[in-house]
Parts: sequence; C-alpha cells; structure tokens
Amino acid sequence: MPPKHIFPEKVNRAPKRKDILSAEEKQLAIRNALRYFPKEWHSELASEFAEELRAYGRIYMYRFKPSYTLRARPLEEYPTQSKQAAALMLMIQNNLDPAVAQHPEELITYGGNGAVFQNWIQYVLTLQYLALMTDDQTLHLYSGHPMGLFPSSKNAPRVVVTNGMMIPNYSKPDDWEKFNALGVTQYGQMTAGSFMYIGPQGIVHGTTITILNAFRKILKPQETVGGKIFLTAGLGGMSGAQPKAGNICGCITVCAEVNPKAAEKRHEQGWVDVLIYNIPDLIARVRTAQKNEEVVSIAFIGNVIEVWECFDQENIHVHLGSDQTSLHIPWTGGYYPIGFSFDEATKMLQKDPENFKKEVQKSLRRHAAVIQKHTNKGTYFFDYGNAFLLEASRAGADIMAENKIDFKYPSYVQDILGPMCFDYGFGPFRWVCASGDTADLERTDAIALSVMETLSKTAPPEIQLQLQDNITWIKNAKTNKMVVGSKARILYADAEGRMKIAEAFNQAIAENKIGPVVLGRDHHDVSGTDSPYRETSNIYDGSKFTADMAIHNVIGDSFRGATWVSIHNGGGVGWGEVMNGGFGMLLDGSSEASERLKSMLFYDVNNGVARRSWARNKEAIFAIKREMERTPNLKVTLPNLVDDNLLKSLF
Ligand SMILES: NC(=O)c1ccc[n+]([C@@H]2O[C@H](COP(=O)([O-])OP(=O)(O)OC[C@H]3O[C@@H](n4cnc5c(N)ncnc54)[C@H](O)[C@@H]3O)[C@@H](O)[C@H]2O)c1
Repeated sequence: MPPKHIFPEKVNRAPKRKDILSAEEKQLAIRNALRYFPKEWHSELASEFAEELRAYGRIYMYRFKPSYTLRARPLEEYPTQSKQAAALMLMIQNNLDPAVAQHPEELITYGGNGAVFQNWIQYVLTLQYLALMTDDQTLHLYSGHPMGLFPSSKNAPRVVVTNGMMIPNYSKPDDWEKFNALGVTQYGQMTAGSFMYIGPQGIVHGTTITILNAFRKILKPQETVGGKIFLTAGLGGMSGAQPKAGNICGCITVCAEVNPKAAEKRHEQGWVDVLIYNIPDLIARVRTAQKNEEVVSIAFIGNVIEVWECFDQENIHVHLGSDQTSLHIPWTGGYYPIGFSFDEATKMLQKDPENFKKEVQKSLRRHAAVIQKHTNKGTYFFDYGNAFLLEASRAGADIMAENKIDFKYPSYVQDILGPMCFDYGFGPFRWVCASGDTADLERTDAIALSVMETLSKTAPPEIQLQLQDNITWIKNAKTNKMVVGSKARILYADAEGRMKIAEAFNQAIAENKIGPVVLGRDHHDVSGTDSPYRETSNIYDGSKFTADMAIHNVIGDSFRGATWVSIHNGGGVGWGEVMNGGFGMLLDGSSEASERLKSMLFYDVNNGVARRSWARNKEAIFAIKREMERTPNLKVTLPNLVDDNLLKSLF
C-alpha cells in the first residue's frame, strides 16, 4: 500500500461537496470504495475513506495518487502493447496535468466538477489496463470505473466511455450529489471525462468565433468593430476567455467579475488589459476607449448588474451584451447577488444558503430588467451557454417571449453558432501532436492552413466567412500563444474540411514529416450534443428535448473507426440538461487510419447536419444537399415545407 498522501502546496482544491448521504448510504459508499482493495487493507482504508467522505463529501482515495508527474508525454514513452492505448494514456495524463486541470488533486479538469475519474484507484487501474491491452481488446469505462478489458477486434474502439448515464428520472442535481458520493457515477463535463480537453485554447477560439459573428449580425455594411462595446461578466475558468477573444475581434470588452482574485489572476496572465475597481473610473476609461476606438479589455471588479445599470444611466451604448457567470450552478456560488461584497456573499452562502438563493433570484430579476432597458435602446443580447435565461426565467424575471415558450433573447447557438456554423457542419475540430514536439504543431498548422485556403477557392459564398475566420485564426495561432499542456490546436471546419485536413496529416505522418496525431473535437459541436438550451437550441420541430442524435453519433462513430468514444449526461448547462458525446482517433500514417478517418469524420459531422436539415433549418438543408451531390452513397430524408396559411385555418 502506498504511503499516505501529502498534498502539494498552493494547489487549487475542489470545494467540499454536499453531505447528502444517510448513515446507511455512507456505509455503502465505503463498502463500494473498499471493493477495489484486498481485505487485509480494509481496516486502515475504511477509516481513511470515512474521513475523506466527512472532510470533502467524496472519497478521492488520495493515497493512490501516483507520485510521478502527470503530464502528456511523447507517445513512444508510454509502455504499451498498443499505440492506440498509448494515445489514450497521453490524453488522460494531459487532463490531469496540474498545469491544465482546475482541481488536479480531485481529478477535476474544468467546470468545477468535470471529472476524469472519481478516484485515484480508477486512474491507476485504467492505466494498468491500457498498458496491457492489445488491439484486439476494448476497455469499458463506467463513469471512470474500468469494468474491464473485453475481447473485440482491431476495428473496434479501444475504449468506450460513459459518464453520468442515468435512468432519466434520476437525473436531478441532487441525484448527482448522491450517486457520485456513493461512487457509482460522475460528471464528466464534456472534454474532462472524455480525455479531450486542450486547455484555454478551445474556449478562446469558440468565443472569438461567437463575438465575430455576433458583430456581423448588428453592424451595418462598411461599419467596423472598432470602438464598439461588448459587455459581459465572469473571469473564471472559461469566462476568462472573453476579454482575450474580444481583443482578437478588435472591440472594447468590459467584463465584470465579483471575485477580485479571479480578475487579478487573469490580469497577471495577460488575458485582460486593465483592472478597474470603481464605477466613475470605469465610465471615464470606457469613454476614452470609445473616443480613440481602442482595442482594449477592461475588468471591472464588482457585480455586473452595477455596470449594466450605470451604463444605462450614463447612456453608454452597449453594442453586444452577454453573461458568463456560472448559472449552471446558481445556488452554490456560481452567481453572486448584488448588494453584498464578495466576502459577505460567500459568508452568506455558507451560513444561510436559503437566503443566498433568495438574493440570487432577486438579483436575476433585476439583472434581466436592466438588460431589457438596454435592448430597448438597441443592444444585441445573447445567452452564452451558461443558463442565464433559464435561471432568470425560473427566478420569475420578465424574460419570456410573448408565446411564453421562448425567451425574449436568443442563445448564442440559436442566433449565431447554430445557423452560421453548426448547420453547415462547421464545428470545433481539434488535434494533438502526440510527439509533444512544438515543431510538429507548427507543421500541422501549415498543413491545415493550406487545406483551408485550397477549399476556400471553390467554396460557395454561404461558408466563405467561416473559412476565412478560421484561416485568420490558424495564421495567428502561434502568436496568440494558446498552448497549455499537450501540443494541441483547434479550428472550426465542416465535414469536408475536417476530412481533408485529417487526410493531409495522415499523409504527412506516412512520409515521416510529422509524428502521430490524435484527432478529436469538443462535444459542443454539430452532432455530438443534444442540449435544448445550448447546442440544439436552434431546433424548432419539437425534437430539441430528445437525445437521439447524440446517441446515434456515439454508436455511429464507434463502428466507423474511432479509437475511443464517449457519451455523457451533463456538461456546461448541467446534470440532466444535456447528452453529449465525442471521440478520439489516433492517426499513425497507415492506410487503415486513412479509411477510418474518412468513414468516421464524414458520419460524425453529417449525422448532425442531416438532423438539423430534417428540423427544416435552411442552412442545413443546403449543406446536406451539397453533401449528397458529392457523395452518391449518402441518402438523407429531406423535409417538405408546409405553407403557414394551410396550418392557420386548421385549429
Ligand atoms: N458557451 C460556451 O461555449 C461555454 C463554454 C464553457 C462554459 N460555459 C458556461 O459558462 C459559465 C462560466 O464558466 P466558467 O468556467 O468561467 O465558470 P467560473 O465559475 O470559473 O467563472 C464564473 C465567474 O463569474 C463570476 N461571477 C459570478 N457572479 C457574478 C456577478 N453577479 N457579477 C460578476 N461576476 C460574477 C464568478 O466570480 C466567477 O469567477 C458556466 O455556466 C459554463 O457552463 C459556456
């Protein structure tokens, strides 16, 4: 048995989780934990695990955390029988790298609860299985628990991952607290439990694409982004990308953050240009920035409602408005109420959570009311996937549209990413250079750029802007210095683009120009995620509350050549609110890899385009028709459109 764990200094630890289990259930949690270990260790471990459960609300089995450094190593350094298994080790270790992960001691990569494994013994066992496995076996992971290696075939995925799959009626937030504390499920977020996280680069790219396209919606022809204001909130894990993305887009970003430490950290890292602690200074600085049409990002330390209200009084026009506070967890500190300092509110949350909840609800109503004042004056406000509209509506804010079904404001997917990207198949394709060599990353950037420039020469006007944005992104990728952890890159591409880039990588690997490459994507994509208030919010045929697309995607990818597949409950918008899946694929330069990438990437994108087309989204109908012309073997059911007048007279 390894010695007791000594915690490293200054490491960011996960908050204590809810003490939700009854005494009997706590015994079950300990019994569950001990089944990993020989009986002679039980008495020592039982009391240690009981102490962990008391102190942290979960059993992390810290003692079994390896003493070696967790980080992505070059692929050939992994002692495996299967190169594909080595690719998984690399990606798992990257997600747990202390430079990458949010709470590395608790195996949390991002999002507060995005777990890679539930505990350290699951990590140790999984790595052991991966070291042993051959290309004729598949490892099945149940929410981090390695159920075992099963015989399969070379064409099967090496690993099948499920996270948080629940019987639907047991998918309330407290069910996660309970079953996670029992040690039988986990919240994998999107790319945490699927080993596909690439640090902050992913969110900076996604936010850049969102802001660029949002401005396109509101600017008149010939008008530029210079001097226009983007007002938002949050400088945390993901939200911290907003000022950096705002700078890349060329606007004035004002980002409020209640937690001074979070804002100061982002300032030190160079992610936000200016820190401002009071409203008069903020107004003066914003007016100067407007006058000079500066590209600048400003962090205001305080509640975002204060900024919305003072900009209203001062008649400072906000062109784009959004919010990225953590409203997927509104009652546990994700959203801070107005009228209290950060410390006062934190104390209230600990001592009087009921009152904290009431204050949050009150604030959400006030927040929505002042946004309305701005939108009346022409501000374009969008929900940025943090459940702002959902929670504001649940708090009783005046935020519903006249039909009482939709919200007054769109989500960023409804208005921006859905019709402008996802419906055409454009989504967050990513890759990791498994050699760990920066020169490989630069070579892959050059390959991807050349493929996209070639595609843009003959691409139809409908997708030109998306291609151009990503050409610009990849040209500047190196100078934007976004790489943390593994040597990874992201860009948005459609099915054709993803396949052509991947094929060019595989060719370069075969010619020994670069080392092996792991392909993947964010789950936040065209086909992988069913999420009615986010990824599939622009589906209007009533099917946005179904999850067939995500399930088809993971099954479809699994038999078309993915190295691993994953399907998760929860991610971004919350447990029970979304089903999302993804894949990983190792390219090794072989002809088999070439076949696999074509078959799987084609389906991985076009599954969602077909579903979006069936939902009558005109951009998707265009994209799937175009795909059918290119691919005679593809036959997709197309919708017939119905005359509105015919329906009006029926009921
Ligand atoms: N759109 C996307 O693609 C996308 C991607 C990732 C995350 N998200 C969502 O965005 C949200 C934020 O994610 P994160 O990782 O940055 O979370 P986080 O908790 O790390 O950061 C949120 C920040 O908001 C601050 N905050 C809370 N209430 C505030 C208030 N009233 N005024 C000003 N600041 C306030 C908090 O102090 C915190 O620093 C989550 O709900 C997440 O699910 C969306």
